Amino acid sequence: MTLLSLRDVRIHDGVGDRDVVHGISFELAPGAAVGIVGESGSGKTLTCRAVLGILPEHFTVAGGTVSLEGRDLAGLSANEWTALRGSTVAAVFQDPASYLNPSLKVGNQIAEVVRVKTGLGRRAAKDRALELLDSVRLPARVYGLYPHELSGGMLQRVLIATAIAADPRVLIADEATTALDVTVQAEILDLLADLRDRTGLALVVVSHDLAVVAQLCDEVLVLRAGETVEQGPVEQILYEPRHEYTRLLIAEHARYGLDRVLELEHVA
Ligand SMILES: Nc1ncnc2c1ncn2[C@@H]1O[C@H](COP(=O)(O)OP(=O)(O)OP(=O)(O)O)[C@@H](O)[C@H]1O
Ligand SMILES: [Mg+2]
Repeated sequence: MTLLSLRDVRIHDGVGDRDVVHGISFELAPGAAVGIVGESGSGKTLTCRAVLGILPEHFTVAGGTVSLEGRDLAGLSANEWTALRGSTVAAVFQDPASYLNPSLKVGNQIAEVVRVKTGLGRRAAKDRALELLDSVRLPARVYGLYPHELSGGMLQRVLIATAIAADPRVLIADEATTALDVTVQAEILDLLADLRDRTGLALVVVSHDLAVVAQLCDEVLVLRAGETVEQGPVEQILYEPRHEYTRLLIAEHARYGLDRVLELEHVA
């Protein structure tokens, strides 16, 4: 079964009057993970935003189809998009602090998202928020803390908790671990892998860091300037890259610890 399917998706910039994404395709099954890598400006985030219905002003899906659970997303109304976001597809981005209100306790913010997205009453929403904290491996006392009292890794866990509050089928992680130090990054990746394995959550993992994608994904798309230069199973892309650009990315990312990941996988 396919949860999310992109077929030849083109994204057009109405102001620059040019296509910025030139036909991207992939399919995602429950519990699967697809990675999107590529240099800055290659169209990774726009592709994610097209799936979430939050393209910047003047940007449109000008060709191809995006469908979720078999439903073509073209022409959804704003209300339908709002209903879809969170309940079917959700996302976490870089810089989690910017998504939280600094003057409210994080637990209340999670509970509020639960209330809005699931319609639970206040009491039940609080219980659910505590459950969500537990499922992102944060202790219950975090409920009563303010954002500034949490580390970057803890904040990203809080954002993951809000993202999965309404049990989405697909979670998009766009550079979600980029700002974190290596140990914390590994913990978050492990958490995402665990959520995927336990709940069948499907992941779209965007990173400029191939090591991140290698760790989590089954399939990888390598983008350059809005085009897919290479796409296939993660082992194939890493061990037998066909495209010079992919080889360059691999060489460039070796210093981020890709070698270490590959060695670990060989041992395993
Ligand atoms: N809000 C926007 N307004 C104008 N141009 C944009 C906007 N967002 C993206 N673009 C342009 O679209 C192209 C793709 O951008 P996108 O953000 O998808 O790249 P990316 O692969 O996510 O890069 P990064 O690794 O830096 O996050 C780039 O040329 C970028 O300049
Ligand atoms: Mg981006």
